[in-house]
Amino acid sequence: MATSICLLLWVLLIANTVWTQSVRQAYEVLDLEEWDVHDDFFCPRECFCPPSFPTALYCENRGLREIPAIPSRIWYLYLENNQIETIPEKPFQNATQLRWINLNKNKITNYGIEKGALSQLKKLLFLFLEDNELEEVPSPLPRSLEQLQLARNKVSRIPQGTFSNLENLTLLDLQHNKLLDNAFQRDTFKGLKNLMQLNMAKNALRNMPPRLPANTMQLFLDNNSIEAIPENYFNVIPKVAFLRLNHNKLSDAGLPSKGFDVSSILDLQLSHNQLTNFPRINANLQHLHLDHNKIKNVNISVICPTTLRAEQDAFIHGPQLSYLRLDGNEIKPPIPIDIVTCFKLLQAFII
Ligand SMILES: *[C@@H]1O[C@H](CO)[C@@H](O)[C@H](O)[C@H]1NC(C)=O
Ligand SMILES: *[C@@H]1O[C@H](CO)[C@@H](O)[C@H](O)[C@H]1NC(C)=O
Ligand SMILES: *[C@@H]1O[C@H](CO)[C@@H](O)[C@H](O)[C@H]1NC(C)=O
Ligand SMILES: *[C@@H]1O[C@H](CO)[C@@H](O)[C@H](O)[C@H]1NC(C)=O
Repeated sequence: MATSICLLLWVLLIANTVWTQSVRQAYEVLDLEEWDVHDDFFCPRECFCPPSFPTALYCENRGLREIPAIPSRIWYLYLENNQIETIPEKPFQNATQLRWINLNKNKITNYGIEKGALSQLKKLLFLFLEDNELEEVPSPLPRSLEQLQLARNKVSRIPQGTFSNLENLTLLDLQHNKLLDNAFQRDTFKGLKNLMQLNMAKNALRNMPPRLPANTMQLFLDNNSIEAIPENYFNVIPKVAFLRLNHNKLSDAGLPSKGFDVSSILDLQLSHNQLTNFPRINANLQHLHLDHNKIKNVNISVICPTTLRAEQDAFIHGPQLSYLRLDGNEIKPPIPIDIVTCFKLLQAFII
């Protein structure tokens, strides 16, 4: 069982390579001193308590309607794929050591979450609430939280101050919800000092979310209806490296005057938009998806990003682009051979 947990964690970490280094190894530590040694290895009868992994409690896929009383020794709680509608305070009264709760695929609504139920869990790091029936981001949340997974709910509201104390939150996943532009206030993201990954794909945004946290590295906004990116938008997120805007409504006129000439961006995905020109890019960019736009011409003297270094250093300091996708546009053959003259490191070019 422990092996499969490690494997799961390993997969999760690999899937999120950017912040791998900063995610603390909470799951490797088994601090025996923190255990309640008088705990008599009580196991709720609905669940499975593996003797070799005493800090884990497995209650998933059991058709449960309620959360059982959680023993105080538990760090990892698996409750996914049940019929749970509520999160009361009571079953968590003694569960002060909880680090990880998986409540994906249940029927939890905001009305079902008792006010102190989550915030009393002072050591909680990971909270999974995907595929539930939430209409708001739950609040208050424990200040210790590092990952909040809310994909595939019906979230359209973020209560004031929800994130203001979550200084350790690194990942916020709100993909496939019902967010409109009016979900964000001036200070919605204020306080998220360590946020690195923000996923708001598949919502109903028409504008870029405002005032993002300064440490944002991954910003996923695919499948919205975004038409424009404000001038200087990237100045407040100087570390953004992975930017996905596939399936939006971006046109040339909607881009800032510098386009995507932003030195931090390494991976830029703009598939399925309405661009008619190849946008400006930075020499550091490595992967570029521009397929399924309306691009007609590729004029290499315009698109080849300028570098500050001398010619002889081209391989090291020249344009770093290794992957370029341009299929599904209106480019007529022949394809200018000087694309490879500019992008010397190109390994895959799809047209
Ligand atoms: C918490 O622990 C106390 C003392 O061991 C016990 O009486 C009580 O039933 C426990 N509460 C829950 C919800 O497990
Ligand atoms: C945030 O993480 C740091 C470093 O791990 C830790 O010392 C601190 O207590 C955490 N903050 C909260 C509010 O849990
Ligand atoms: C966006 O929509 C397309 C087309 O419906 C779909 O193939 C793709 O998986 C979606 N991507 C995300 C991140 O929702
Ligand atoms: C490419 O752009 C340059 C600079 O704007 C221009 O002088 C040149 O004529 C263009 N080439 C083609 C083939 O359009």
